[in-house]
Amino acid sequence: MSYPYQITSLEQYHIDYKKSVDDPESFWGDVAGNFLWKKKWDSVLNWNFTEPKIEWFKGGKLNITENCIDRHLATMADKPAFIWEPNNPEERVRTVTYARLHKRVCQFAQVLKNNGVKKGDRVCIYMGMVPELAYAVLGCARIGAVHSVIFGGFSAQSIADRLDDAGAEFIVTCDGAYRGEKVIPLKNVIDDALIGNKTIKKVIVYTRTRTPVSMIKGRDVWWEDEMEYAEGQIEKDGVVSFPAEEMNAEDPLFILYTSGSTGKPKGVVHTVAGYMIWTAYTFVNVFQYKPGQVHFCTADIGWITGHSYIVYGPLAAGATSLIFEGIPTWPDAGRFWDVVDKHQVNILYTAPTAIRSLMGFGLDPLKGKDLSSLKILGTVGEPINEEAWHWYNEHIGKKKCPIVDTWWQTETAGVLISNLAGITPAKASWATLPMPGVQPILVDENGNEVTEKDEHGLLKGNLCIKAPWPGILRTTYGDHERCRTNYFASYPNLYFTGDGALKNEEGFYRITGRVDDVLNVSGHRIGTAEVENAINMHAGVVESAVVGYPHDIKGQGIYAFVIYNGHHGDENMRRKDILQTVTRVIGAIAKPDKIQFVTGLPKTRSGKIMRRILRKIAEGETENLGDISTLLEPGVVEEIKNGKV
Ligand code: WTA
Repeated sequence: MSYPYQITSLEQYHIDYKKSVDDPESFWGDVAGNFLWKKKWDSVLNWNFTEPKIEWFKGGKLNITENCIDRHLATMADKPAFIWEPNNPEERVRTVTYARLHKRVCQFAQVLKNNGVKKGDRVCIYMGMVPELAYAVLGCARIGAVHSVIFGGFSAQSIADRLDDAGAEFIVTCDGAYRGEKVIPLKNVIDDALIGNKTIKKVIVYTRTRTPVSMIKGRDVWWEDEMEYAEGQIEKDGVVSFPAEEMNAEDPLFILYTSGSTGKPKGVVHTVAGYMIWTAYTFVNVFQYKPGQVHFCTADIGWITGHSYIVYGPLAAGATSLIFEGIPTWPDAGRFWDVVDKHQVNILYTAPTAIRSLMGFGLDPLKGKDLSSLKILGTVGEPINEEAWHWYNEHIGKKKCPIVDTWWQTETAGVLISNLAGITPAKASWATLPMPGVQPILVDENGNEVTEKDEHGLLKGNLCIKAPWPGILRTTYGDHERCRTNYFASYPNLYFTGDGALKNEEGFYRITGRVDDVLNVSGHRIGTAEVENAINMHAGVVESAVVGYPHDIKGQGIYAFVIYNGHHGDENMRRKDILQTVTRVIGAIAKPDKIQFVTGLPKTRSGKIMRRILRKIAEGETENLGDISTLLEPGVVEEIKNGKV
């Protein structure tokens, strides 16, 4: 057995699951005993879902970076923590050993300190996928600063909103980032975000692309200069050290913004101990990680998947984690397979949208690629359709790699429902069984548990969770009430996920998708209200309504119905203008795939937009639109149907 808390048989899964539910305190207390604490906790769990108030390992003191790095130095100093594969395959690979990672994180923690960053301060990180991004994240954790990583695809306006919401005073960024053939000028975007900003004190800029950048005296500093100076401070007689801040178990570790059903993204807050334990526990169990294996999670560190399964989970388990800077289709559609071959990857964790898009290139890109190192495959981010699941199984896993379909959310920190690779059964398109500590329940609109099976013998309802697991979100930054209303108020004493699910006789869950106004586009969460707000900011737009529709590659596409009374350009030009506005306000990831100009929207007499009807039209349904007699102007439905794009 490699890890004391690793489940190694189906039987043990059932035993552990039962224990985690019957006696969560002793179960999680045992798991937590495998980590490094500066002071042991007083109580394992205090909670109620009404406020909500959730505290794990209260009274315990620790630092997550000592668990992710220092703890491994005695036995694994020369083992790779990270392998970095650059965007350009011709460029040199970088291997970051645990000893090197320790030094860089200490050095960067010193840089933060030198620049005035203190425990509890919020640091925004906006970088490409370079090892320095991980150093920045861990450097913050080392001194107890709260990091807030923003995905490189978000616009200046989105960054400005997040900086403001988090009250951030520090930024770490790059001059630019490589994405295939493109160079994204990250520092320029930050400069735009900072026009008029009065709270940011320092911007630390790492040089990646040597893109020309403006550097404001007194505010902007170069990463390289700062690191060089710090090196002399942390290293004495060849010994590297920077004291890890003693953190309370429930101190915040990071904020990560995510979309909900309202217009404004919310800052999900995770805390030190629970997050650490949940990511390590799920990493080791879901992927059945064995020391020495190479784990390749293709997500960006700007999303929760990258936080939990590129950085914290793998490092807490002393694993080797691959950081890939590039994109799956450059220089060609065989890039993932090249990376697997070159680095002898054992575990590949990616999104269904990537699988579907690579499927579209046929089998040629696989020719000559040695995928025999692969042992386990995983998917995350959206429901995986059976066709993609079988392609992944046959052509990538060669039918010998278990596939884990991992269902979870930004709010859950790590996987909640998934098979455990090779241990519990897999079923195509089913996330299957809950992790120990996770108690799902399916409820109807009124919050009553669903007990009636449908004609296929399945239970169907809204997916909720009955009790806290260590990784559950604690609050939404600066607005606890919002956390309560969003997640804990729909159904009393339950955490509501926003997803719908089916449950079969074996107790397996199948996630059917969001039941709220949140879209899942290429595995990215986007709120329809957020996109509508952005479209409505465009001059000439009177009103808009956004819905999702099935998209072969992206899973869901964005369909916008727009009332426009401006007179600039033809329809095509107007569409392009609107896309430009959305790109400015949110970022290119939120651009609608389709825009239909309409003269009215289907509304009830009380003025509520009937999205159900729009969704059906966007899906191509023309007949069964349901009852439209309650509409203010039933006539618009016919017009919208006829004008479908
Ligand atoms: C969806 C990503 C089906 C779901 C980790 C959830 C999934 C949202 C799966 C969270 C899966 C994630 N099967 N749906 N295996 N994994 N989802 O916060 O709708 O970016 O609520 O977290 O993605 O997206 P988020």
